[in-house]
Amino acid sequence: MTSSNSENRQAPLLRVLAGETVTPPPVWLMRQAGRYLPEYRALRAEAGGFLDLCYTPAKAAEVTLQPVRRFGVDAAILFSDILVIPQALGQDVRFEEDEGPRLAPLRDRGRLSTLTLDGAADGFAATLGPIYETVARVSEVLPAGCALIGFAGAPWTVATYMVEGGTSREFHHVKRWAFGDPDGFDTLIDMLVEATVQYLSHQVAAGAEVVQLFDSHVGVLPEAAFERWVLAPAQRIVRALKSEYPALPIIGFPRGAGPNYLRYARESGVSAVGLDSAVPLNWAKSMVQPLLPVQGNLDPVYLLQGGSAMDAAVGEVLAALGNGPLVFNLGHGVIKETPPEHVAALIARVRSDAGREPA
Ligand code: CP3
Repeated sequence: MTSSNSENRQAPLLRVLAGETVTPPPVWLMRQAGRYLPEYRALRAEAGGFLDLCYTPAKAAEVTLQPVRRFGVDAAILFSDILVIPQALGQDVRFEEDEGPRLAPLRDRGRLSTLTLDGAADGFAATLGPIYETVARVSEVLPAGCALIGFAGAPWTVATYMVEGGTSREFHHVKRWAFGDPDGFDTLIDMLVEATVQYLSHQVAAGAEVVQLFDSHVGVLPEAAFERWVLAPAQRIVRALKSEYPALPIIGFPRGAGPNYLRYARESGVSAVGLDSAVPLNWAKSMVQPLLPVQGNLDPVYLLQGGSAMDAAVGEVLAALGNGPLVFNLGHGVIKETPPEHVAALIARVRSDAGREPA
């Protein structure tokens, strides 16, 4: 299916996720709202902490819309964070200025009983209520053709933060627990699967048209662990969401999966896969895109750099993947030092789609 100017009124993002090739491809960027935007920094300063911003619907909705207004991207992504799930489950989560997240680390199954999905007044559902309200507010005012994406962290990646207590380089604590006590670790993953399904299904009920599952730390797992803690949880989340919302497009982003991208694309049940920047373009074209629509995968450092290096790299992504179902994006989030003008130039470059080689 190829169409560049059909009467189809659906948002370009939704058309691609349904398997259509759209030219030029829809474009949005992971972390398109954030500290590289002066208007974000202003609102963030007013809100106080980062999590306060996430839980204040009027401000979070405004931040969600900032990149839509400034750049006219094809999708808005809910402004929130993957770590609201552990917080709503009862774990202590803080964001220290310029240090990233800090969590009270959960190192073994003994501590699991401190977490709960129950419905107490300060429990899981109540904590996340303001986030659903943000989705509803954005949904009401979003321009036609711009799709609204909800998201959650995938269980493995959220578990890495919960167990390590923050960002990690080696992931030794979480891997030791998973490898040494797989059944105990499954209890945590099971709770996260259930939490994620509940969280995403509320976002859809509030107006999210697409959801993305961020599995940012897949690249450190051997194959059997990938199957058990990445693939199987993704299958369970997709199956549960599709039983409630059969037509819901779901983007899976198993960053760093390498050759396991193929199994993820075939077996997880997602509608599209997000490619990290290390995925070779011609491999993606011949092996992944025939299975599913793809999203990605410009290295965010090209966007930081801008200019002719960026333009050439955008041209390579479009030449390789632009003749099939493609959502143009980065291979990871926008870097905070990125000049906003580079983002405007990137989007213009994608939309001009000059330099595209015939298939
Ligand atoms: O993409 C968007 O614009 C939507 C918002 C969004 C944020 N985080 C806002 C945010 C999304 C989709 C995320 C996902 C997220 N959060 C991931 C998965 C994607 C990835 O990057 O791998 C992860 C691993 C996190 C956890 C997280 N949140 C970290 C490690 C950090 C600190 C690093 C940093 O960049 O500061 C955050 C904080 C965070 N999340 C910020 C924003 C805008 C910066 C907070 C601030 O304003 O001080």
